[in-house]
Amino acid sequence: MFRLSYIYKWVSRSLANQLLFTYLLVLTIALLIVSVSALSTIKTESITDLRNALEVEAMNLGLEIDNDLRLDSPAARKRIKAAANRRAEKGGVTITVVDDEGHILADSGIRQQPEGENIANQPEITEALAGIASICTRSSARTNSEWLFVAYPIRAAGQTAGVIRLGLPLNQLNQRLNKDLMTFLEFIFGTGIITVLISLWLARKVTRPISEMSAMSKAIAHSGDMSVFVPVRRQDEIGELGLSFNQMIGRLREQERLRQEFIANASHELKTPTMAIGSVVEALQSGAVDDPELRVQFLGSLEKLVDRQSRLIQDLLDITRLDGGLEEDWNEVVNLVDVINDAVEEIRPQAEKKQIELSNLSDGNGLSVAGNPSQLQRALVNLLTNAVNYTPSSGKIDVSVEMVGDDQVEVRISDTGVGIELADLPHIFDRFYRADKARTRVGGGTGLGLAITREIIARHQGVVSVESEVAKGSTFRVRLPLNTNVEQE
Ligand SMILES: Nc1ncnc2c1ncn2[C@@H]1O[C@H](COP(=O)(O)OP(=O)(O)O)[C@@H](O)[C@H]1O
Ligand SMILES: [Mg+2]
Repeated sequence: MFRLSYIYKWVSRSLANQLLFTYLLVLTIALLIVSVSALSTIKTESITDLRNALEVEAMNLGLEIDNDLRLDSPAARKRIKAAANRRAEKGGVTITVVDDEGHILADSGIRQQPEGENIANQPEITEALAGIASICTRSSARTNSEWLFVAYPIRAAGQTAGVIRLGLPLNQLNQRLNKDLMTFLEFIFGTGIITVLISLWLARKVTRPISEMSAMSKAIAHSGDMSVFVPVRRQDEIGELGLSFNQMIGRLREQERLRQEFIANASHELKTPTMAIGSVVEALQSGAVDDPELRVQFLGSLEKLVDRQSRLIQDLLDITRLDGGLEEDWNEVVNLVDVINDAVEEIRPQAEKKQIELSNLSDGNGLSVAGNPSQLQRALVNLLTNAVNYTPSSGKIDVSVEMVGDDQVEVRISDTGVGIELADLPHIFDRFYRADKARTRVGGGTGLGLAITREIIARHQGVVSVESEVAKGSTFRVRLPLNTNVEQE
């Protein structure tokens, strides 16, 4: 029991051991089957060969002595004995000759049975006396060993005149077979050792990359260190696994880099207004609070700074929540035109303050998309806020919506503002990216608006794109798939 559980532990410890154990099991079973069947075939064939040889020998002796048997004289008996002994010596067998009643006439070799004894009751003799050539393998009580007997009737003048029996001790044969078996086993053992070595090598080779990967994932899990890749030396499934593993690490590294960059940027952005707030408070404390005019001015900028700080924090919270996969319903049926109207009305006061003409051309034909209405409104408000912020007074903003093909819809927001430099265009959707670095950090946006918009639109399986010309204006397009579950009017 102890042994079995030990083997079980060893096998389940590693993939290599399992492979090795399987090889060994299959090998042992196959060799066992082959050797047992080969040995039994060899034994049967050897006995058949021997039997045939003995039969021929008995027949020849029969031909030689049939006359003497009939004569039944002392001289004839002498000749029979001589012939039997001669042939027995030559063939390495024991020969017994009996008369037609079963009395021993001659017996050669080690058995040396007494002359005249009646052995008619021994099975092969009984059969041969009845005229049938008989073969049997039995253990003889006299020598206490297995013998192969061939008994052959001698016919003279149509009658059975006697029986010739040839005997061969089988232990000789068995010894020879055992020797064969030993050679066979030695050969099998040798082959087995070579096979085990090859399997061991093969099993290690197959499982080494897997052990390497497992060690690496352990290291990453423990220390978070992602500085290494697994070496890929193979083109099979294991090689593929290694490649995907490396891709995964690459991706994790990239994510980790972005995360750190995001934290660094966010801290930097938070630091600027915080320091400004600190200096205003300091100025107030060192006397400005007593000057009514300065006090109003400083409190005003404090309000602006705090306002900006809370907008930044709100944006940071929003984008982090989007990253983390919000637990919100993203599959509501949304009336897109309602969402556009709400967004436009939300932004109208700011536009009016800057005397910007804000016209909403989207008509109420009830286009519906699948998604989250408040998030969609947030995405559009970000675009509209930019349009107002980056368009000088008495500019113009147009909002419209249009079908594209028969399963998409496009919201267009165009302004007559400052436009975006070609070099900035690919970056404006990046987090914290602002085209105009000189714009005061305090008054400007957070640099997160477009990133949030892009994230929300992507969640709706949509895309947001931009076209812009410096000093002429910009057009942002949001393309969304129409809600196919709802009949469009
Ligand atoms: N309608 C627009 N006209 C001109 N420039 C724009 C417009 N919308 C966005 N931009 C540019 O893209 C940058 C990124 O926009 P956004 O992510 O909303 O950040 P923020 O508005 O906080 O600066 C802005 O800083 C601005 O330079
Ligand atoms: Mg913005």
